[in-house]
Amino acid sequence: MRFVPAPCLKNGMICAKKIYGKNGELLLNNDAVIQETYINRIRELGISGVYIEDALSEGIEFVDIISETQRSTSVRTVKNLFEQIAVDAPAARARAQQLSQTVEDIVDSIIQNKDLNINLVDLKVFDDYTYYHCVNVGVLALLIAARMKWPHKKMHELGMAAMLHDVGKIFVDKKILIKPGSLTKEEFDEMKTHSERGFEYLRFGYPSFAQDLLRAINEHHERLDGKGYPQGKRSGQISEYARIIAIVDVFDALTSDRPYRAAMTPSDAIEYIMAETNKAFDPVIAKIFLSCVMPYSPGTTVKLSNGWVGIIVKNNFEASLRPCVRIIRHQLDELESDKDFKPYQIDLFRDPKCLDITVTGNIDR
Ligand SMILES: [Fe+2]
Repeated sequence: MRFVPAPCLKNGMICAKKIYGKNGELLLNNDAVIQETYINRIRELGISGVYIEDALSEGIEFVDIISETQRSTSVRTVKNLFEQIAVDAPAARARAQQLSQTVEDIVDSIIQNKDLNINLVDLKVFDDYTYYHCVNVGVLALLIAARMKWPHKKMHELGMAAMLHDVGKIFVDKKILIKPGSLTKEEFDEMKTHSERGFEYLRFGYPSFAQDLLRAINEHHERLDGKGYPQGKRSGQISEYARIIAIVDVFDALTSDRPYRAAMTPSDAIEYIMAETNKAFDPVIAKIFLSCVMPYSPGTTVKLSNGWVGIIVKNNFEASLRPCVRIIRHQLDELESDKDFKPYQIDLFRDPKCLDITVTGNIDR
């Protein structure tokens, strides 16, 4: 399978990975033949692209860290909970119970997954950004905890805190949350209240939640250098849960399309996290996180430093810019015209003839 960005989708392509809509409903099944109406719907919903199956990408597979069903169920659970909090507190409590079970299941999946690395599957539905974001932050935080071999109970608390980290946004004016342009100082000040409001709400509404869980919600925007909020705490004053959530929250936000900017590529987001390590982010946690993130997922079309074009087949975790690549063209400008080219595979890490070649970027066409 390979990833085709939404603007490049064509009639007749075969969908390789299920696409879900706003409410977790199935929009496109795998094996579905893509038609004009689907393409329009995909673009309307702001879905960045579709994984397709074709001869060029035959045999290229990858597994998400949690299953598609688990991801869509989690998004639905978080959405139901957030929506209920605003209108019906007892019903919300029942949803929180469901969320606890969902996190339990994700912890189990991650512990059982031997391959604790992230293959980004960026098929987020724009309207439901908040809920997808919460689930991604939960999964990424748990990945770090699994790498650190945390006990199950601690992982569960961290997972709950990560899924609920932005619950306070329910109390922020929706106009500010969805504003397409940059925020005024007053609007930003209002936005910044979300961590404390979420913390206060859960502290009183959910007294059974562990102190560490609640504290992480309050501190997820604190930064090592004291430039965060709400209290401008510094390194040792910030809890370990919050220091984990801070990194994965920023990483997922940067790699998502937002009303005011397009998504950054994972490789650019990795560079951002590196640049902010020691200033904003904990160096030990950042190092563990970055060792799990590969800048290019299998199925991504990339250009190489010698001008060749290929599809990522498999990552080499020892060297993230030296994956196995299926070369599909020798020149970027001949994407459509060179029909006789026979694709072949190279391993940029193991093949001695390829040691001077690296991946230099994505190709969005
Ligand atoms: Fe936040």
